[in-house]
Amino acid sequence: MMKMRTLGYTGEQLTTVGLGTWAHGGGDWGFGWGAQDDAESVRAIRAALDTGMNWVDTAAVYGLGHAEEVLGRALKELPEKPFVATKCSLLWDDETRKTRSSLRADSVRAECEASLQRLGLEVIDLYQIHWPKPDEEIEEGWGAVADLIREGKVRYGGVSNFSVDQMKRVQSIHPIASLQPPYSMLERGVESELLPWCAENEVGVIVYSPLQKGLLTGKIDRAYVEAMDDRDHRKARDPMFQELALTDILKKVDRLRPIAAALDINLTQLAIAWVLRRSEVTAAIVGARRPDQVEGVAPASDVTLSEQTVTEIESILAG
Ligand SMILES: NC(=O)c1ccc[n+]([C@@H]2O[C@H](COP(=O)([O-])OP(=O)(O)OC[C@H]3O[C@@H](n4cnc5c(N)ncnc54)[C@H](OP(=O)(O)O)[C@@H]3O)[C@@H](O)[C@H]2O)c1
Repeated sequence: MMKMRTLGYTGEQLTTVGLGTWAHGGGDWGFGWGAQDDAESVRAIRAALDTGMNWVDTAAVYGLGHAEEVLGRALKELPEKPFVATKCSLLWDDETRKTRSSLRADSVRAECEASLQRLGLEVIDLYQIHWPKPDEEIEEGWGAVADLIREGKVRYGGVSNFSVDQMKRVQSIHPIASLQPPYSMLERGVESELLPWCAENEVGVIVYSPLQKGLLTGKIDRAYVEAMDDRDHRKARDPMFQELALTDILKKVDRLRPIAAALDINLTQLAIAWVLRRSEVTAAIVGARRPDQVEGVAPASDVTLSEQTVTEIESILAG
């Protein structure tokens, strides 16, 4: 059985690795991941649950509704549903396919109804505000999430990409079940303030992009990036996938290889175990678009890194 941790104050037990479905949204929008076969996405979701993961993260905006529809298709065939987390705040125009942000109460309510429809669910386990934008609307948006909880459409409310100050502003309206921030060996902004605050306030933390969108798997090099679908936002607009940042990152990843080899695990598992070394982290959301990727990440739940390994990694990351 995969290891579990408690999600903040809720008492819910989540496996320390869960499935992220951003890439299942496909390519045809500004933050897509290139071509993605829906049947393959459904197989990846099933494989994740078969390996023991008990939760899935998605968002309305992934593929402009498409990732939620695909997840809904997969859920329909399951006798036992996993814990489902989705997000609101990013709206889109069907014709231009451009996105904009709103946290107006009416907008959050309409988004929730649309997500329930696409997912084929009567209740969303964890409903998260995707981005704290516009900043002046976060209290109104969070109040709407609290109302949806009272009405039984949502079980718990979470936030994503919020600062400590922004969490303090909404915490008095309704308790926050979880924060979803970025966290990986290459993106460590959460360590000093956010993680300790969440632990002190019983806010769970489910971290995103623990593989830094694939860079920490060891499979990516310049040729891999060049061969990516032009609609893959990583190739088109993620600074870490552009030079000179890419060369610098790939050098670090090469220096991590012997550490993973000595532990008899792969780099993907090392990267996930590394974020899980922090006790404030409830779980890591790993994006997998195929069943074989899921099978590669699940064993990371069982890996505990020694202090010596953590120190060795620290010196590589500092170098
Ligand atoms: N709240 C937010 O603002 C936010 C932002 C980002 C992500 N998220 C959530 O977090 C999830 C995970 O983040 P992410 O998808 O950005 O990045 P990630 O988990 O760091 O990396 C995912 C990528 O890593 C590669 N990969 C995964 N498993 C692998 C394996 N076993 N072997 C080799 N390569 C493997 C795949 O790359 P290829 O595609 O190249 O095969 C995959 O697309 C998302 O799906 C989403 O649910 C949330």
